[in-house]
Amino acid sequence: MSDSRRETTLRGLLLGSLLGPLLGLLVVATGVSFYGARLAATHAFDRVLMDPVQALSQRVVVQNGKLVLQMSPETLHTLFTHVYDVAWFQILDARHQQIAGNMNLPVPDRLSSKPRFYDAVIRGANVRVGVVRVRLDSDPLVGNEAPEVIIQVAETLIRRDRNLYELMALMITPALLVVLTAIAMVSFGIGHGLKPLDALRQEIANRSWHDLHPVNEMSAPLEIRPVIVALNQLLADLAHVLDTQQRFLANAAHQLRTPLAGLQTQVELLLRDSRSDETRDALRVVLDTTRRVTHLANQLLALARAEPGGSHLLNMQYINLADLVELDMAMWLARAQARNIDLGFELEPVMVEADMLQLGEMLGNLVDNALRYTQEGGVITVRSRYDGAGILEVEDNGPGIPEAQREKVLERFYRIEGSPGNGCGLGLSIVAEIARSHHARLQILTPASGRGLLVRVVFASASGLPHA
Ligand SMILES: Nc1ncnc2c1ncn2[C@@H]1O[C@H](COP(=O)(O)OP(=O)(O)O)[C@@H](O)[C@H]1O
Ligand SMILES: [Mg+2]
Repeated sequence: MSDSRRETTLRGLLLGSLLGPLLGLLVVATGVSFYGARLAATHAFDRVLMDPVQALSQRVVVQNGKLVLQMSPETLHTLFTHVYDVAWFQILDARHQQIAGNMNLPVPDRLSSKPRFYDAVIRGANVRVGVVRVRLDSDPLVGNEAPEVIIQVAETLIRRDRNLYELMALMITPALLVVLTAIAMVSFGIGHGLKPLDALRQEIANRSWHDLHPVNEMSAPLEIRPVIVALNQLLADLAHVLDTQQRFLANAAHQLRTPLAGLQTQVELLLRDSRSDETRDALRVVLDTTRRVTHLANQLLALARAEPGGSHLLNMQYINLADLVELDMAMWLARAQARNIDLGFELEPVMVEADMLQLGEMLGNLVDNALRYTQEGGVITVRSRYDGAGILEVEDNGPGIPEAQREKVLERFYRIEGSPGNGCGLGLSIVAEIARSHHARLQILTPASGRGLLVRVVFASASGLPHA
Protein backbone atom coordinates (compact mmCIF):
# COMPACT_ATOMS: atom_id res chain seq x y z
CA MET A 1 0.00 0.00 0.00
CA SER A 2 1.86 3.02 -1.20
CA ASP A 3 -0.47 5.56 0.40
CA SER A 4 -0.73 3.91 3.77
CA ARG A 5 1.54 6.69 4.92
CA ARG A 6 -0.90 9.37 3.79
CA GLU A 7 -2.61 10.78 6.81
CA THR A 8 -6.34 10.69 6.90
CA THR A 9 -8.21 13.07 9.13
CA LEU A 10 -11.88 12.82 9.92
CA ARG A 11 -12.16 16.50 9.15
CA GLY A 12 -10.65 15.91 5.72
CA LEU A 13 -12.84 12.89 5.05
CA LEU A 14 -16.03 14.63 6.09
CA LEU A 15 -15.22 17.87 4.33
CA GLY A 16 -14.33 15.92 1.19
CA SER A 17 -17.45 13.82 1.17
CA LEU A 18 -19.72 16.74 2.06
CA LEU A 19 -18.22 19.63 0.17
CA GLY A 20 -17.58 17.80 -3.11
CA PRO A 21 -21.22 16.98 -3.77
CA LEU A 22 -22.36 20.28 -2.25
CA LEU A 23 -20.11 22.19 -4.58
CA GLY A 24 -21.30 20.16 -7.58
CA LEU A 25 -24.91 20.75 -6.61
CA LEU A 26 -24.34 24.46 -6.29
CA VAL A 27 -22.60 24.68 -9.65
CA VAL A 28 -25.45 22.82 -11.35
CA ALA A 29 -28.14 24.81 -9.53
CA THR A 30 -26.43 28.11 -10.26
CA GLY A 31 -25.93 27.10 -13.87
CA VAL A 32 -29.58 26.17 -14.35
CA SER A 33 -30.92 29.33 -12.76
CA PHE A 34 -28.37 31.41 -14.64
CA TYR A 35 -29.48 29.85 -17.90
CA GLY A 36 -33.14 30.53 -17.07
CA ALA A 37 -32.47 34.10 -16.06
CA ARG A 38 -30.47 34.72 -19.22
CA LEU A 39 -33.27 33.34 -21.35
CA ALA A 40 -35.80 35.64 -19.67
CA ALA A 41 -33.49 38.64 -20.04
CA THR A 42 -32.89 37.85 -23.73
CA HIS A 43 -36.64 37.74 -24.32
CA ALA A 44 -37.10 41.08 -22.60
CA PHE A 45 -34.24 42.70 -24.52
CA ASP A 46 -35.51 41.24 -27.81
CA ARG A 47 -38.96 42.71 -27.22
CA VAL A 48 -37.44 46.14 -26.58
CA LEU A 49 -35.31 45.72 -29.72
CA MET A 50 -38.53 45.51 -31.77
CA ASP A 51 -40.06 48.64 -30.22
CA PRO A 52 -39.25 50.93 -33.17
CA VAL A 53 -40.84 48.53 -35.69
CA GLN A 54 -44.36 49.85 -35.28
CA ALA A 55 -43.30 53.48 -35.51
CA LEU A 56 -41.36 52.69 -38.69
CA SER A 57 -44.15 50.70 -40.34
CA GLN A 58 -46.62 53.51 -39.78
CA ARG A 59 -44.38 55.90 -41.69
CA VAL A 60 -43.90 53.78 -44.78
CA VAL A 61 -46.16 55.22 -47.46
CA VAL A 62 -46.70 54.91 -51.22
CA GLN A 63 -45.41 57.89 -53.11
CA ASN A 64 -45.52 58.01 -56.89
CA GLY A 65 -46.17 54.29 -56.86
CA LYS A 66 -43.10 53.67 -54.73
CA LEU A 67 -42.76 52.78 -51.06
CA VAL A 68 -40.85 55.38 -49.06
CA LEU A 69 -40.14 56.06 -45.40
CA GLN A 70 -41.45 59.40 -44.29
CA MET A 71 -39.57 60.13 -41.12
CA SER A 72 -37.41 63.05 -40.10
CA PRO A 73 -33.77 62.37 -39.30
CA GLU A 74 -34.41 63.70 -35.76
CA THR A 75 -37.10 61.11 -35.10
CA LEU A 76 -34.89 58.38 -36.52
CA HIS A 77 -32.10 59.56 -34.31
CA THR A 78 -34.36 59.38 -31.26
CA LEU A 79 -35.54 55.93 -32.20
CA PHE A 80 -32.11 54.42 -32.73
CA THR A 81 -29.83 56.14 -30.32
CA HIS A 82 -29.32 54.35 -27.02
CA VAL A 83 -27.17 55.18 -24.06
CA TYR A 84 -24.80 52.23 -24.45
CA ASP A 85 -25.55 50.47 -27.66
CA VAL A 86 -25.34 51.32 -31.34
CA ALA A 87 -28.47 50.44 -33.35
CA TRP A 88 -29.21 50.05 -37.04
CA PHE A 89 -32.26 49.35 -39.18
CA GLN A 90 -33.37 48.68 -42.67
CA ILE A 91 -36.73 48.42 -44.39
CA LEU A 92 -37.08 46.20 -47.46
CA ASP A 93 -39.96 45.63 -49.80
CA ALA A 94 -41.36 42.21 -50.58
CA ARG A 95 -38.63 41.67 -53.19
CA HIS A 96 -35.94 42.49 -50.63
CA GLN A 97 -35.14 45.85 -52.20
CA GLN A 98 -34.08 48.35 -49.56
CA ILE A 99 -36.58 51.17 -49.02
CA ALA A 100 -34.67 52.85 -46.19
CA GLY A 101 -32.02 52.07 -43.57
CA ASN A 102 -28.41 52.33 -42.52
CA MET A 103 -27.33 48.70 -42.68
CA ASN A 104 -27.19 45.94 -45.13
CA LEU A 105 -27.68 42.49 -43.64
CA PRO A 106 -29.07 39.57 -45.62
CA VAL A 107 -32.61 38.70 -44.64
CA PRO A 108 -33.59 35.13 -43.81
CA ASP A 109 -36.24 33.37 -45.89
CA ARG A 110 -39.74 32.50 -44.92
CA LEU A 111 -40.44 35.36 -42.58
CA SER A 112 -43.74 35.72 -40.82
CA SER A 113 -45.47 38.43 -38.84
CA LYS A 114 -43.83 36.91 -35.80
CA PRO A 115 -40.41 38.50 -35.19
CA ARG A 116 -37.33 36.38 -35.64
CA PHE A 117 -34.11 36.97 -33.74
CA TYR A 118 -30.58 35.90 -34.40
CA ASP A 119 -26.98 36.89 -33.75
CA ALA A 120 -24.81 38.46 -36.41
CA VAL A 121 -21.79 40.68 -36.91
CA ILE A 122 -21.93 44.24 -38.21
CA ARG A 123 -18.68 46.09 -38.84
CA GLY A 124 -16.84 43.73 -36.56
CA ALA A 125 -19.28 44.14 -33.68
CA ASN A 126 -21.45 41.32 -32.34
CA VAL A 127 -25.05 42.30 -32.68
CA ARG A 128 -28.51 40.97 -32.03
CA VAL A 129 -30.81 41.20 -35.02
CA GLY A 130 -34.60 41.17 -35.07
CA VAL A 131 -36.54 40.86 -38.27
CA VAL A 132 -40.28 40.85 -38.97
CA ARG A 133 -42.70 41.04 -41.85
CA VAL A 134 -45.22 43.84 -41.50
CA ARG A 135 -48.34 44.42 -43.65
CA LEU A 136 -48.86 48.15 -44.05
CA ASP A 137 -52.27 49.70 -43.44
CA SER A 138 -54.25 49.37 -46.68
CA ASP A 139 -54.12 52.49 -48.81
CA PRO A 140 -57.68 53.69 -49.39
CA LEU A 141 -56.58 55.95 -52.26
CA VAL A 142 -54.94 53.26 -54.28
CA GLY A 143 -57.45 50.67 -53.26
CA ASN A 144 -54.89 48.01 -53.80
CA GLU A 145 -54.22 45.31 -51.35
CA ALA A 146 -51.90 46.75 -48.67
CA PRO A 147 -48.21 45.99 -49.45
CA GLU A 148 -45.87 44.13 -47.11
CA VAL A 149 -42.43 45.27 -45.93
CA ILE A 150 -39.64 43.59 -44.03
CA ILE A 151 -38.24 45.55 -41.11
CA GLN A 152 -34.90 44.56 -39.67
CA VAL A 153 -33.33 46.11 -36.61
CA ALA A 154 -29.99 45.37 -34.94
CA GLU A 155 -28.13 46.55 -31.88
CA THR A 156 -24.83 45.88 -30.21
CA LEU A 157 -24.70 43.70 -27.10
CA ILE A 158 -23.19 46.11 -24.58
CA ARG A 159 -26.29 46.46 -22.44
CA ARG A 160 -27.05 42.76 -22.68
CA ASP A 161 -23.53 41.77 -21.69
CA ARG A 162 -23.55 44.19 -18.84
CA ASN A 163 -26.81 42.75 -17.65
CA LEU A 164 -25.36 39.28 -17.97
CA TYR A 165 -22.41 40.13 -15.73
CA GLU A 166 -24.68 41.64 -13.15
CA LEU A 167 -26.83 38.56 -13.28
CA MET A 168 -23.80 36.34 -12.89
CA ALA A 169 -22.50 38.25 -9.90
CA LEU A 170 -25.94 38.17 -8.37
CA MET A 171 -26.11 34.40 -8.63
CA ILE A 172 -22.54 33.48 -7.78
CA THR A 173 -22.33 35.62 -4.66
CA PRO A 174 -24.98 33.72 -2.69
CA ALA A 175 -23.62 30.42 -3.99
CA LEU A 176 -20.15 31.34 -2.74
CA LEU A 177 -21.63 32.42 0.56
CA VAL A 178 -23.37 29.07 0.88
CA VAL A 179 -20.09 27.22 0.19
CA LEU A 180 -18.09 29.30 2.65
CA THR A 181 -20.76 28.99 5.32
CA ALA A 182 -20.92 25.25 4.72
CA ILE A 183 -17.14 24.91 5.09
CA ALA A 184 -17.18 26.95 8.28
CA MET A 185 -20.12 25.03 9.70
CA VAL A 186 -18.73 21.63 8.79
CA SER A 187 -15.33 22.54 10.23
CA PHE A 188 -16.89 23.79 13.41
CA GLY A 189 -19.27 20.87 13.58
CA ILE A 190 -16.47 18.37 13.18
CA GLY A 191 -14.34 20.10 15.79
CA HIS A 192 -17.30 20.10 18.10
CA GLY A 193 -18.19 16.52 17.26
CA LEU A 194 -14.63 15.32 17.88
CA LYS A 195 -14.49 16.80 21.37
CA PRO A 196 -15.51 13.54 23.04
CA LEU A 197 -12.62 11.80 21.25
CA ASP A 198 -10.26 14.41 22.60
CA ALA A 199 -11.66 13.93 26.09
CA LEU A 200 -11.15 10.19 25.71
CA ARG A 201 -7.59 10.71 24.51
CA GLN A 202 -6.87 12.89 27.51
CA GLU A 203 -8.37 10.45 29.96
CA ILE A 204 -6.21 7.64 28.56
CA ALA A 205 -3.08 9.78 28.22
CA ASN A 206 -3.33 10.97 31.82
CA ARG A 207 -3.37 7.47 33.17
CA SER A 208 -0.43 5.67 34.60
CA TRP A 209 0.07 2.06 33.64
CA HIS A 210 -1.07 1.06 37.10
CA ASP A 211 -4.53 2.36 36.48
CA LEU A 212 -6.43 -0.28 34.56
CA HIS A 213 -9.97 0.57 35.61
CA PRO A 214 -12.41 0.77 32.70
CA VAL A 215 -13.01 4.01 30.82
CA ASN A 216 -16.49 5.41 31.37
CA GLU A 217 -18.28 4.65 28.12
CA MET A 218 -21.62 6.17 29.00
CA SER A 219 -20.40 9.75 28.70
CA ALA A 220 -19.11 9.11 25.16
CA PRO A 221 -21.27 9.42 22.05
CA LEU A 222 -22.79 6.22 20.71
CA GLU A 223 -20.40 6.08 17.75
CA ILE A 224 -17.28 5.91 19.92
CA ARG A 225 -18.66 3.46 22.44
CA PRO A 226 -17.62 0.31 20.56
CA VAL A 227 -14.03 1.59 20.63
CA ILE A 228 -14.27 2.18 24.37
CA VAL A 229 -15.91 -1.17 24.96
CA ALA A 230 -13.07 -2.88 23.08
CA LEU A 231 -10.51 -0.82 24.98
CA ASN A 232 -12.13 -1.70 28.30
CA GLN A 233 -12.08 -5.37 27.35
CA LEU A 234 -8.37 -5.07 26.67
CA LEU A 235 -7.82 -3.27 29.98
CA ALA A 236 -9.77 -5.96 31.81
CA ASP A 237 -7.76 -8.72 30.12
CA LEU A 238 -4.55 -6.92 30.99
CA ALA A 239 -5.61 -6.46 34.61
CA HIS A 240 -6.47 -10.14 34.78
CA VAL A 241 -3.09 -11.16 33.38
CA LEU A 242 -1.27 -8.84 35.78
CA ASP A 243 -3.32 -10.12 38.66
CA THR A 244 -2.60 -13.73 37.77
CA GLN A 245 1.08 -12.99 37.47
CA GLN A 246 1.21 -11.24 40.82
CA ARG A 247 -0.72 -13.99 42.50
CA PHE A 248 1.68 -16.50 41.06
CA LEU A 249 4.68 -14.51 42.23
CA ALA A 250 3.26 -14.00 45.70
CA ASN A 251 2.38 -17.68 45.97
CA ALA A 252 5.75 -18.84 44.73
CA ALA A 253 7.59 -16.51 47.11
CA HIS A 254 5.38 -17.54 49.97
CA GLN A 255 5.82 -21.25 49.23
CA LEU A 256 9.58 -20.81 49.15
CA ARG A 257 9.79 -19.30 52.59
CA THR A 258 8.86 -22.34 54.64
CA PRO A 259 11.39 -24.78 53.15
CA LEU A 260 14.01 -22.04 53.24
CA ALA A 261 13.40 -21.50 56.94
CA GLY A 262 13.75 -25.24 57.48
CA LEU A 263 16.94 -25.31 55.47
CA GLN A 264 18.36 -22.42 57.44
CA THR A 265 17.61 -24.11 60.76
CA GLN A 266 19.22 -27.36 59.63
CA VAL A 267 22.35 -25.60 58.43
CA GLU A 268 22.62 -23.67 61.69
CA LEU A 269 22.37 -26.94 63.64
CA LEU A 270 24.99 -28.61 61.47
CA LEU A 271 27.26 -25.62 61.84
CA ARG A 272 26.99 -25.81 65.61
CA ASP A 273 27.79 -29.56 65.73
CA SER A 274 30.48 -29.70 63.10
CA ARG A 275 34.05 -30.27 64.20
CA SER A 276 35.93 -29.86 60.94
CA ASP A 277 36.95 -26.30 60.04
CA GLU A 278 36.57 -27.08 56.36
CA THR A 279 33.00 -28.25 56.80
CA ARG A 280 32.19 -25.22 58.93
CA ASP A 281 33.51 -22.87 56.25
CA ALA A 282 31.39 -24.61 53.64
CA LEU A 283 28.35 -24.54 55.90
CA ARG A 284 28.80 -20.82 56.50
CA VAL A 285 28.65 -20.22 52.76
CA VAL A 286 25.50 -22.33 52.57
CA LEU A 287 23.96 -20.41 55.46
CA ASP A 288 24.82 -17.09 53.91
CA THR A 289 23.26 -18.14 50.60
CA THR A 290 20.18 -19.44 52.36
CA ARG A 291 19.74 -16.10 54.14
CA ARG A 292 20.16 -14.26 50.87
CA VAL A 293 17.52 -16.40 49.16
CA THR A 294 15.18 -16.03 52.12
CA HIS A 295 15.58 -12.28 51.91
CA LEU A 296 14.86 -12.44 48.18
CA ALA A 297 11.70 -14.50 48.76
CA ASN A 298 10.55 -12.03 51.40
CA GLN A 299 11.20 -9.05 49.16
CA LEU A 300 9.43 -10.69 46.22
CA LEU A 301 6.43 -11.34 48.40
CA ALA A 302 6.45 -7.76 49.65
CA LEU A 303 6.67 -6.43 46.11
CA ALA A 304 3.86 -8.64 44.87
CA ARG A 305 1.69 -7.43 47.74
CA ALA A 306 2.54 -3.80 47.11
CA GLU A 307 1.73 -3.89 43.41
CA PRO A 308 -1.65 -2.78 42.12
CA GLY A 309 -4.08 -5.66 42.13
CA GLY A 310 -1.64 -7.54 44.32
CA SER A 311 -3.06 -10.23 46.53
CA HIS A 312 -2.93 -7.90 49.47
CA LEU A 313 -5.98 -5.64 49.63
CA LEU A 314 -5.16 -2.30 51.18
CA ASN A 315 -6.59 -1.92 54.65
CA MET A 316 -6.63 1.84 54.95
CA GLN A 317 -6.86 3.40 58.37
CA TYR A 318 -5.56 6.45 60.19
CA ILE A 319 -2.06 5.80 61.41
CA ASN A 320 0.22 7.94 63.49
CA LEU A 321 3.58 7.91 61.73
CA ALA A 322 5.37 8.38 65.06
CA ASP A 323 3.70 5.22 66.42
CA LEU A 324 4.63 3.34 63.28
CA VAL A 325 8.30 4.20 63.71
CA GLU A 326 8.25 3.07 67.31
CA LEU A 327 7.00 -0.42 66.42
CA ASP A 328 10.34 -1.70 65.08
CA MET A 329 12.56 0.75 66.90
CA ALA A 330 14.11 -1.81 69.23
CA MET A 331 15.17 -4.15 66.43
CA TRP A 332 16.80 -1.31 64.49
CA LEU A 333 18.55 0.02 67.56
CA ALA A 334 20.10 -3.41 68.09
CA ARG A 335 21.35 -3.51 64.52
CA ALA A 336 22.66 0.07 64.79
CA GLN A 337 24.49 -0.73 67.97
CA ALA A 338 26.14 -3.76 66.38
CA ARG A 339 27.61 -1.45 63.74
CA ASN A 340 28.29 1.43 66.09
CA ILE A 341 25.81 3.65 64.25
CA ASP A 342 24.12 6.55 66.00
CA LEU A 343 20.44 5.91 65.23
CA GLY A 344 18.23 8.79 66.37
CA PHE A 345 14.54 9.67 66.12
CA GLU A 346 12.74 13.00 65.79
CA LEU A 347 9.11 12.06 65.98
CA GLU A 348 6.12 14.38 65.93
CA PRO A 349 2.62 12.93 65.84
CA VAL A 350 1.10 13.06 62.35
CA MET A 351 -1.90 11.16 61.11
CA VAL A 352 -1.98 9.72 57.62
CA GLU A 353 -4.43 7.37 55.98
CA ALA A 354 -2.50 4.24 55.16
CA ASP A 355 -2.23 0.48 55.31
CA MET A 356 -0.31 -0.36 58.45
CA LEU A 357 1.52 -3.42 57.09
CA GLN A 358 2.50 -1.77 53.82
CA LEU A 359 3.71 1.39 55.49
CA GLY A 360 5.74 -0.70 57.93
CA GLU A 361 7.25 -2.57 54.98
CA MET A 362 8.18 0.73 53.33
CA LEU A 363 9.78 2.20 56.44
CA GLY A 364 11.55 -1.10 57.16
CA ASN A 365 13.18 -1.06 53.72
CA LEU A 366 14.34 2.55 54.12
CA VAL A 367 15.86 1.99 57.55
CA ASP A 368 17.35 -1.30 56.39
CA ASN A 369 19.11 0.48 53.53
CA ALA A 370 20.42 3.19 55.85
CA LEU A 371 21.72 0.60 58.31
CA ARG A 372 23.26 -1.42 55.51
CA TYR A 373 24.98 1.27 53.52
CA THR A 374 26.04 3.76 56.18
CA GLN A 375 29.58 3.24 57.39
CA GLU A 376 30.39 2.22 60.95
CA GLY A 377 30.19 5.21 63.26
CA GLY A 378 27.67 6.91 60.97
CA VAL A 379 24.53 8.77 61.93
CA ILE A 380 20.96 7.88 60.96
CA THR A 381 17.88 9.92 61.82
CA VAL A 382 14.26 8.88 61.35
CA ARG A 383 11.71 11.70 61.41
CA SER A 384 7.97 12.18 61.31
CA ARG A 385 6.30 15.58 61.21
CA TYR A 386 3.40 17.57 59.87
CA ASP A 387 4.27 20.32 57.43
CA GLY A 388 1.05 20.96 55.55
CA ALA A 389 1.46 17.33 54.58
CA GLY A 390 2.49 14.20 56.46
CA ILE A 391 6.23 13.70 56.21
CA LEU A 392 8.30 10.61 56.92
CA GLU A 393 12.08 10.87 56.51
CA VAL A 394 15.06 8.58 56.85
CA GLU A 395 18.36 10.44 56.70
CA ASP A 396 21.88 9.06 56.91
CA ASN A 397 25.39 10.38 56.39
CA GLY A 398 26.57 7.38 54.37
CA PRO A 399 27.79 7.29 50.77
CA GLY A 400 24.45 8.46 49.35
CA ILE A 401 23.18 7.79 45.83
CA PRO A 402 24.55 9.85 42.92
CA GLU A 403 21.82 12.02 41.41
CA ALA A 404 22.08 10.26 38.05
CA GLN A 405 21.19 6.95 39.71
CA ARG A 406 18.23 8.12 41.75
CA GLU A 407 15.67 7.07 39.13
CA LYS A 408 17.48 3.84 38.41
CA VAL A 409 17.56 2.58 41.98
CA LEU A 410 13.75 2.53 41.93
CA GLU A 411 13.85 -0.14 39.24
CA ARG A 412 13.48 -3.76 40.19
CA PHE A 413 16.67 -5.70 40.83
CA TYR A 414 18.79 -2.61 40.28
CA ARG A 415 21.72 -2.31 42.67
CA ILE A 416 24.51 0.16 42.46
CA GLU A 417 27.60 -1.73 41.48
CA GLY A 418 29.86 -2.59 44.41
CA SER A 419 27.10 -2.17 47.00
CA PRO A 420 27.90 -4.30 50.01
CA GLY A 421 25.64 -6.86 51.58
CA ASN A 422 23.32 -9.48 50.17
CA GLY A 423 20.54 -7.20 48.87
CA CYS A 424 18.66 -8.13 45.75
CA GLY A 425 17.77 -4.63 44.47
CA LEU A 426 14.08 -4.78 45.29
CA GLY A 427 13.94 -2.58 48.42
CA LEU A 428 13.45 0.80 46.81
CA SER A 429 11.07 -0.68 44.19
CA ILE A 430 8.90 -1.82 47.07
CA VAL A 431 9.16 1.62 48.67
CA ALA A 432 8.16 3.33 45.41
CA GLU A 433 5.28 0.91 44.86
CA ILE A 434 3.88 1.48 48.34
CA ALA A 435 4.28 5.26 48.09
CA ARG A 436 2.38 5.15 44.82
CA SER A 437 -0.48 3.06 46.15
CA HIS A 438 -0.78 5.54 49.03
CA HIS A 439 -0.71 8.55 46.68
CA ALA A 440 2.39 9.72 48.49
CA ARG A 441 5.37 11.41 46.86
CA LEU A 442 8.75 9.74 47.17
CA GLN A 443 11.79 12.03 47.13
CA ILE A 444 15.40 10.93 47.11
CA LEU A 445 17.48 13.89 48.25
CA THR A 446 20.84 14.92 49.52
CA PRO A 447 20.77 15.96 53.20
CA ALA A 448 21.47 19.59 54.15
CA SER A 449 24.94 18.52 55.32
CA GLY A 450 25.73 17.64 51.70
CA ARG A 451 26.66 14.07 52.51
CA GLY A 452 24.59 10.91 52.72
CA LEU A 453 21.03 10.23 51.69
CA LEU A 454 17.68 11.69 52.66
CA VAL A 455 14.63 9.72 51.59
CA ARG A 456 11.38 11.60 52.15
CA VAL A 457 7.82 10.36 51.72
CA VAL A 458 5.15 13.06 51.54
CA PHE A 459 1.53 12.17 52.28
CA ALA A 460 -0.68 14.90 50.87
CA SER A 461 -3.73 14.02 52.94
CA ALA A 462 -2.61 14.19 56.52
CA SER A 463 -3.31 16.09 59.68
CA GLY A 464 -0.97 17.25 62.39
CA LEU A 465 -3.13 16.28 65.33
CA PRO A 466 -3.81 12.70 66.29
CA HIS A 467 -7.31 11.62 65.43
CA ALA A 468 -9.55 10.74 68.29
N1 LIG B 1 20.72 4.78 52.31
C1 LIG B 1 21.44 4.47 51.22
N2 LIG B 1 22.70 4.94 51.10
C2 LIG B 1 23.43 4.63 50.02
N3 LIG B 1 23.00 3.87 49.00
C3 LIG B 1 21.76 3.38 49.07
C4 LIG B 1 20.92 3.66 50.16
N4 LIG B 1 19.74 3.05 49.96
C5 LIG B 1 19.84 2.42 48.77
N5 LIG B 1 21.06 2.62 48.25
C6 LIG B 1 21.54 2.12 46.94
O1 LIG B 1 20.45 1.83 46.12
C7 LIG B 1 20.51 0.50 45.65
C8 LIG B 1 19.10 -0.05 45.58
O2 LIG B 1 18.54 -0.20 46.86
P1 LIG B 1 17.46 -1.28 47.11
O3 LIG B 1 16.43 -1.15 46.08
O4 LIG B 1 17.03 -1.20 48.54
O5 LIG B 1 18.20 -2.64 46.82
P2 LIG B 1 19.25 -3.42 47.74
O6 LIG B 1 19.31 -2.75 49.05
O7 LIG B 1 18.68 -4.77 47.82
O8 LIG B 1 20.52 -3.37 47.00
C9 LIG B 1 21.40 -0.21 46.61
O9 LIG B 1 22.09 -1.23 45.95
C10 LIG B 1 22.32 0.85 47.10
O10 LIG B 1 23.43 0.91 46.27
MG1 LIG C 1 17.62 -2.44 50.21
